[in-house]
Amino acid sequence: MAGEPPSSGGSSRGGAGGGGGLPSNCWGDWIGVCCSHPEECVDPGTAWGMVVGEGGGGPGGGAGEAGAAGANDPLGCPSAYDLPEGLCYGYESGRHHDGLCCYSYWSGSCCGRPFVVGGEARVALVAQRDDWGGARDAADRALDEPTRAELARQWLADALLEHASVASFARFVLDLLAVGAPSELVERAQSAIGDEIAHARACFALAARYAGEPLGPAALPTSEPGRSVRLEELAAAAVREGCVGETLAALQAEAQLGVVSDVRARAALELIARDEASHAELSWAFVRFAIERGGDPVKRAVREAFLDAERTLELGASAELPAVDLAVLAAHGRLTPAERAACHRAAFRDVIRPCRHALLGESQRSAQATPGTGMLCC
Ligand SMILES: [Fe+2]
Ligand SMILES: [Fe+2]
Repeated sequence: MAGEPPSSGGSSRGGAGGGGGLPSNCWGDWIGVCCSHPEECVDPGTAWGMVVGEGGGGPGGGAGEAGAAGANDPLGCPSAYDLPEGLCYGYESGRHHDGLCCYSYWSGSCCGRPFVVGGEARVALVAQRDDWGGARDAADRALDEPTRAELARQWLADALLEHASVASFARFVLDLLAVGAPSELVERAQSAIGDEIAHARACFALAARYAGEPLGPAALPTSEPGRSVRLEELAAAAVREGCVGETLAALQAEAQLGVVSDVRARAALELIARDEASHAELSWAFVRFAIERGGDPVKRAVREAFLDAERTLELGASAELPAVDLAVLAAHGRLTPAERAACHRAAFRDVIRPCRHALLGESQRSAQATPGTGMLCC
């Protein structure tokens, strides 16, 4: 349902994909939105064409750092881990039906720090309200209708993810206290909550402007009974949500700043790019603290979390745009799926992987500065 504009149409709305009747951000292949897909089957050749790495490898061939599989598969299907579709917690194991390779996966990419509950990135439903920055605004009639609707849809998706980041950092503050973290980390996490509120307001304001109606979040279910606060699990979560998620968010915002000309969209992106870089730094600092505190078990969990994230790096293959004016979309701060995927690949290559090597002592590389942001992440 790519292309369907947000329509608050009442008090709230959501879509399929949420577990246990809870709201989910899975409304289809929305750009920037983590969305679960129960299962998808493709022929082995198509599956190998999706494999990470130059030329897609092939059965037994190379598949980048993720490593190739297939030799042990009865159909020669690539391993689920070798198929990138999204950064949002990857594929489950491959299965077969009628000679096809079948996979369950998440698509989309996380905008900043996701609020993960039970393995799923959760966001609020949409509500018609104006107290989160998204006051009624005259829709920009200079834009054609499909492009305006697409801009509203994309900025609303970002707004909901930014809003969810507020909950994620609020929980992170409690996690830091639970593991006896230094006050400096707690203070930075507490400060990040305010940043995410500002991001959400800025994005809801843009969404409401393009939609021509007030937009904000409905209630966000935040309970998570029995959640673990073991140090290795918290460190792995910080890798996925912060070291990766917020590094990507910062660098993607930098890339969006490279194409935007609209003044209001630029202001929002400048705020987000600066703060997400700072939030990513906080996550790298926490993971370093966790390794120092917890030793090898934490280090192993951290390494696996980085590798999982890279295995599921989105290539943008599943995301399509409706018929919109791409130049206008760019002027209002949006990237195409291909541009976003290229940005994410570059982020892994130039920042996340070198920083991981330095953090885990995997090479002699020293700290790497993040291009454009001045962020020192390790
Ligand atoms: Fe944010
Ligand atoms: Fe953030």
